[in-house]
Amino acid sequence: MPRFTFPEWTETLKKWINLLVLGAPVYLVALVAYGVTPEAIRIGYQPDQPVPYSHALHAGELGMDCRYCHSTVERAGKAAIPPASVCMNCHTQVKKESDLLLPIRAAYAEDQPVHWTRVTDLPDYVYFNHSAHVNATIGCETCHGRVDQMVKVFQAKSLTMTWCMDCHRNPEPNLRKAEALTVMGYQPGAGEGAAVMKANNVNPPTNCSTCHR
Ligand code: HEC
Ligand code: HEC
Ligand code: HEC
Ligand code: HEC
Ligand code: HEC
Repeated sequence: MPRFTFPEWTETLKKWINLLVLGAPVYLVALVAYGVTPEAIRIGYQPDQPVPYSHALHAGELGMDCRYCHSTVERAGKAAIPPASVCMNCHTQVKKESDLLLPIRAAYAEDQPVHWTRVTDLPDYVYFNHSAHVNATIGCETCHGRVDQMVKVFQAKSLTMTWCMDCHRNPEPNLRKAEALTVMGYQPGAGEGAAVMKANNVNPPTNCSTCHR
């Protein structure tokens, strides 16, 4: 009488079951650590905009300074999104017939705001202020990434409390000289952070009421 043997595929099946059972905890840990944290969910958030305005073109190729448009970033809490009139400084001449710029021309003609969708957006119970950070001096790219390479802006950092705190506890590596505020791809020189820290008397608060008031 022939001995019953399992077909070969059951061996493969057993290997897979082993892998799943033994591998599950590792997989779960990996998922929690890299997959489902607030960090990973939010980084890369990239909403559609009413006009396909490209930072890669304007700030990258054309080399426009961030402050040409985000003009209040050094003196106010908010960085300011430019009104249509700022775009029309050029677009009454350049690409003035472009369909892509229809919403800009309409907003300009009617003196209405353009309805851009927010990208970087903290919950209402968190207080943030640009001027404090920009004057410290922390570059735009430290918190917003390589905007000069973004055709469409996306959220580059997690913006979680831990992210804020990590820098508040140790700001030095993130400080650069004032001239480099809007420079992209900048590497501070040796000792630059420490020097800026001392010169600007930088001392970020870590008590709760700093950010929750
Ligand atoms: C010609 C004007 C212009 C210039 C120059 C410019 N921006 Fe913008 N920026 C805009 C407009 C318009 C928006 C809103 C539409 C969008 O998100 O693309 C915007 C959006 C942003 C946002 C997202 C805002 C949000 O909703 O969270 C960031 C961050 C930003 N810009 C950073 C920069 C940085 C950094 C630079 C310099 C490297 C720069 N911008 C240069 C016009 C400009
Ligand atoms: C320390 C981190 C940090 C730095 C440095 C920084 N930003 Fe921001 N930025 C943020 C955060 C956080 C928000 C969201 C604020 C909110 O939701 O209230 C934001 C929002 C914005 C917005 C949307 C409008 C607004 O003010 O809410 C623009 C535009 C912007 N930043 C541009 C810039 C530019 C340009 C620079 C450099 C000159 C810069 N940021 C430097 C963290 C930073
Ligand atoms: C300093 C001048 C200048 C300013 C200010 C400016 N742009 Fe432009 N923009 C240009 C140039 C130059 C081009 C490229 C034209 C080309 O491709 O020949 C361009 C191209 C564009 C295009 C592509 C148009 C097409 O049909 O290909 C859009 C959309 C656009 N800009 C939106 C904006 C918006 C929105 C603003 C304001 C937030 C703005 N621009 C501010 C100079 C400017
Ligand atoms: C890359 C570093 C860095 C990051 C990231 C950062 N901060 Fe700060 N923050 C600083 C520094 C440096 C100062 C102190 C400036 C000084 O001492 O003059 C500061 C100061 C502040 C202040 C005090 C402003 C005032 O005028 O009282 C607030 C509020 C604040 N940060 C909120 C936040 C929040 C909220 C986040 C996260 C969404 C954040 N910061 C992320 C570096 C950072
Ligand atoms: C440097 C700024 C900063 C400081 C200081 C700070 N927080 Fe926060 N906190 C934040 C930000 C940003 C968020 C929003 C996090 C998010 O959206 O994921 C937050 C969220 C929270 C939340 C909501 C729950 C959560 O985790 O999302 C609680 C509760 C909270 N903070 C408590 C505190 C307490 C207590 C302290 C003092 C020990 C403190 N925070 C100090 C920036 C700060």
